[in-house]
Amino acid sequence: MKIFLDTANLKDIREAHDLGVLDGVTTNPTLLAKEGGDPEQVLLEICRLVDGPISAEVVATDVEGMVREGRHWAALHPNIVVKCPCTVDGLKATKALTALGHRVNMTLIFSPTQALLAAKAGARFVSPFVGRLDDISTSGMAMVGEIVNILGNYDYDCEVLAASLRHPMHVVEAASLGAHIGTMPLSVLLAMVKHPLTDIGLKKFLDDWEKAKKELGAKAAR
Ligand code: E4P
Repeated sequence: MKIFLDTANLKDIREAHDLGVLDGVTTNPTLLAKEGGDPEQVLLEICRLVDGPISAEVVATDVEGMVREGRHWAALHPNIVVKCPCTVDGLKATKALTALGHRVNMTLIFSPTQALLAAKAGARFVSPFVGRLDDISTSGMAMVGEIVNILGNYDYDCEVLAASLRHPMHVVEAASLGAHIGTMPLSVLLAMVKHPLTDIGLKKFLDDWEKAKKELGAKAAR
């Protein structure tokens, strides 16, 4: 499973990158707005840090606007993937942007039908939002499973990017279901590393080592 970071925060991206497991980054207007500064410069810096797909979302809601903004984002850097929302205009824009040779990540997907249409329109990635469905008492993961199954029945050049992942078990379940990519905040990525038995085990190894060294020193002094 590929791991993407879901943020526009450069410090978090650097930290995840240093772990050696980062394959890409997803941003959205909320995440870019949170960081402040010029979004273009932030995106360019992310592209310099991470050699993988970097999603930049359009904010226009009509086809022409989405295509214009998408072309602008795509021209910034070859790593940029244009994020379009799953609406009627978003599908049309996806078709147009794909025809122009740009990669599209269709975002705000909340049903298998939306994912199927996105793949048919040419989206290179579909982003089902797991946590936001869970928030309204509907299983986000069941949707991911259905999308993986449906797209797996055909030959679309489209990867399932499980998004809105809020905790490590979301990642485990998405990977078990065969989602190609999981995007998550740094807190979730770091939580995936932690295990209390690792910490306890490491402490015991180091304590035993120190004890043995002291004993050896004491023997040599006698
Ligand atoms: C994905 O591309 C979105 O940016 C993101 O995963 C949304 O997550 P949230 O529902 O936690 O805001």
